[in-house]
Amino acid sequence: MHMLQTLNKEAQLTEEAHRLYGLLKSVSKPEGGQWTYDDCLKAAPYTLAINRFKKEQNAVILAHSYTTPDLVYGVADYRGDSYELALKARDSSADVIVFAGVWFMAETAKILNPSKKVLIPAGHAGCTLADAITGPQVQQLRAEHPGVPALCYINSLAEVKAQCDCCVTSGNVFDIAQKMPGDELIFVPDLLMAQNLEAELKRRGTPKKIIAAGGSCYVHGKYRPEDVQKLRAEHPDIQVVAHPECPIEVCRLCDYMGSTKGMSAYVAGSDAKCYGMLTEFGLVNRLEAEHPDKKFIWPFGICEYMKRNTLENTLEALIDPHPDQVVQMDPALAAAAQKAIDKMFELAQ
Ligand code: 13P
Ligand code: SF4
Repeated sequence: MHMLQTLNKEAQLTEEAHRLYGLLKSVSKPEGGQWTYDDCLKAAPYTLAINRFKKEQNAVILAHSYTTPDLVYGVADYRGDSYELALKARDSSADVIVFAGVWFMAETAKILNPSKKVLIPAGHAGCTLADAITGPQVQQLRAEHPGVPALCYINSLAEVKAQCDCCVTSGNVFDIAQKMPGDELIFVPDLLMAQNLEAELKRRGTPKKIIAAGGSCYVHGKYRPEDVQKLRAEHPDIQVVAHPECPIEVCRLCDYMGSTKGMSAYVAGSDAKCYGMLTEFGLVNRLEAEHPDKKFIWPFGICEYMKRNTLENTLEALIDPHPDQVVQMDPALAAAAQKAIDKMFELAQ
């Protein structure tokens, strides 16, 4: 009997490792090389256990595209960008929402679906944008510019969202900004996206003065025009894509600038064989898995906050979460922040 159980367990692990390898074999690792069958065999006990606990607890796992591919393809029920995952969190009927992402994303999930238990495997994983401005600073900015509508990027804390008229993501920032009244707009907390926003509104023939405050993404903010020039010099047929968190002088040189979902759609809809990716490594991995016939060149760019989510701490969060893996929100603050997020859903239609 014991022998049979051991054999069954081994067969199950082998089957799971084959399933993972089928999904990950064209995915590269940050240190070079690609996911191997051995890597998948090491991941298999975790993915099996997580998927079992997930069912037992009626939990759903949402993984941002920047988390590691073993999470994205091994255990996630939904993978996507911040907008897609916010919608999934809002509409989920599961008892538990496990959000593999950074803190502001899990906080947004809790705001949108407050009766659920929301867990974040990485604990208080920050984001250099979300940590760049506070609610009182936005309140002060608004007092200095009375009557000017205020937009906040979703990469912000609930206390910042609570001070703003509408939230936006990289996928809808330009369209929503265009719909706001007046010719001035407060935009927080991404100073680089603010420059891209001002330029895009001008290009569309609906210019607005953007009053910006905050900081920048420490991943996307590091790309320079020389990175685009180098990609083009080394790969003459390359299409270069960038996230709007990149500096404007970089975005101007690219073939496409857009959100995580936008870049994926651009790649899917293009006949080009080679892409320069000015964005976080996780998206590169997703595109490698989903377009094994295409080549992706990634100069650099890893978000260590996103990578704090692992199979190990996802399992831990499901079995016996640490207090900092459980998202708690003050109901009044959540309700105030929700208004800005709901406004985004309304205007993004
Ligand atoms: P997306 O809205 O494209 O998911 O971007 C979130 C983010 O943190 C990008 O750095
Ligand atoms: Fe924040 Fe940048 Fe990481 Fe996105 S990549 S979560 S903006 S630090």
